[in-house]
Amino acid sequence: MPAKSQPVTRHVVSINDLSKREIEAIFEIAQAYLDELGDPKYPYRIGRSIDIGSRHILASLFYEPSTRTRLSFESAMLRMGGEIITSDDPAVSSAKKGESLADTIRVISNYADIIVIRHPRDGAARLAAEYSPIPVINGGDGSHEHPTQTLCDLFTLKKKNKRLENMKIAISGDLKGSRTIHSFVYALARFGAIIEPMPAAGMELPHHVDRRLREEFQSKVVPKNTPGSDDADFDALYVTSDQPHQQSLFSGTEVDYGFFVQKKVDALYVTRFQKERWADDKDNQAPYLKIDTKFMKDAKYSDASVMHPLPRVGELDTDLDNDRRAVYFQQAAYGVPIRMALITMLLGLKKNKSLQTFPDGFAKPEYPLYRQSINTGLRCLNDNCISRDPAEQHYAANKFHIIRNATGDACRLRCLYCETDIEEETAKDFVVCDTTKHHYVRGLEPLLHASDDRLRHLIIYQSEAEAERDGHHARAGRTARVAG
Ligand code: NCD
Repeated sequence: MPAKSQPVTRHVVSINDLSKREIEAIFEIAQAYLDELGDPKYPYRIGRSIDIGSRHILASLFYEPSTRTRLSFESAMLRMGGEIITSDDPAVSSAKKGESLADTIRVISNYADIIVIRHPRDGAARLAAEYSPIPVINGGDGSHEHPTQTLCDLFTLKKKNKRLENMKIAISGDLKGSRTIHSFVYALARFGAIIEPMPAAGMELPHHVDRRLREEFQSKVVPKNTPGSDDADFDALYVTSDQPHQQSLFSGTEVDYGFFVQKKVDALYVTRFQKERWADDKDNQAPYLKIDTKFMKDAKYSDASVMHPLPRVGELDTDLDNDRRAVYFQQAAYGVPIRMALITMLLGLKKNKSLQTFPDGFAKPEYPLYRQSINTGLRCLNDNCISRDPAEQHYAANKFHIIRNATGDACRLRCLYCETDIEEETAKDFVVCDTTKHHYVRGLEPLLHASDDRLRHLIIYQSEAEAERDGHHARAGRTARVAG
């Protein structure tokens, strides 16, 4: 008899941990909760409680300020008859004594059935998930992702527009520092949206997010002014290939670029300047677009929902609060039914509605994983990555996905935790050591076709000097770049 497969513990660290079908299933449950428990006077509000989650405990572990995310998770759990335990001030938790996140999670997972975590470091939620036998939900990790905010955003859009596919969404403000934006654009691309970035100067989407949109989510960059160029020009739109008329764009036939530019937008998503993610010198920030009734008079926005994850700090005028297009307080209100639905699925509280029944998650490309011993060799180059936190140095092994380019002769490395890429150009002077022979060659070529077993014997260093310091030497005649 074949062994019964073990149920997997599902975590929601990235919006890409959920398939589109799973996202739709979460929305169905959220809607059912609204229908059953909604306040007849206020349609966005859950007004009554049930006991579906009794005997379950949610731990909320917040290392960063939060109002909506923590309180709506806790309200969701209480509305379901569950219990909550909270650690919301790192200054009075053992983090203050220097305890690692990994140890904290190993301990807390004995006290609860599900954990929601918020942390200032990119990739912290993935590290937490690695050490947790119970589901971990990312409540925002550094500037990496905030997947449950995206669920609230998509649900709001779906309620308003009756569909999720093929919308045109403008996104404005700090697109670099906003984790809500990063989860949101991945989801939008997967639902075939046209995305119009409107960043404040110097706050464009991070390069690795832009590249993922283009290479993994098949978004084509359509310049607003100069058709024909394929550059990541920021005065450009991302167009994904879901609609038949968009497909012509990808088959190389005549394209009316103006069509994409002129289309009215379905929503304008506004974000605040993420002050805490920038060094002080950004304090005197460049002019930041202010969205107010005057701005919204443009015909392009005549039917556009105005969205904001909140809090707002001046970039969204209160004069819009009573405008029929404003939906930002609905977004926040939907935090309760959406998080009730997510907890329900992660804990398997409704028959046949468990996330375990979709063990595959989002069918993303499976990249080989390179895992390196903890204290040696290349570390993630993102200073804010959880793997760079000195408290985690014995817990966060350096792990990178190996992503080969289209021609297969070079690769970039994506940190498993923060998902920031080390580009081919940066990696060209790295060296790869064969630990069985203690010699190294320059470039990442040995990683390109290595089996998992072979990968275990390789160590990447950022330079020859580092490799030499660890007792390796250049392979005879091969200090020069290895031929491809
Ligand atoms: C967002 C966050 O924390 O990233 N807030 C939220 O959860 N609604 C947005 C922000 O702080 O700007």
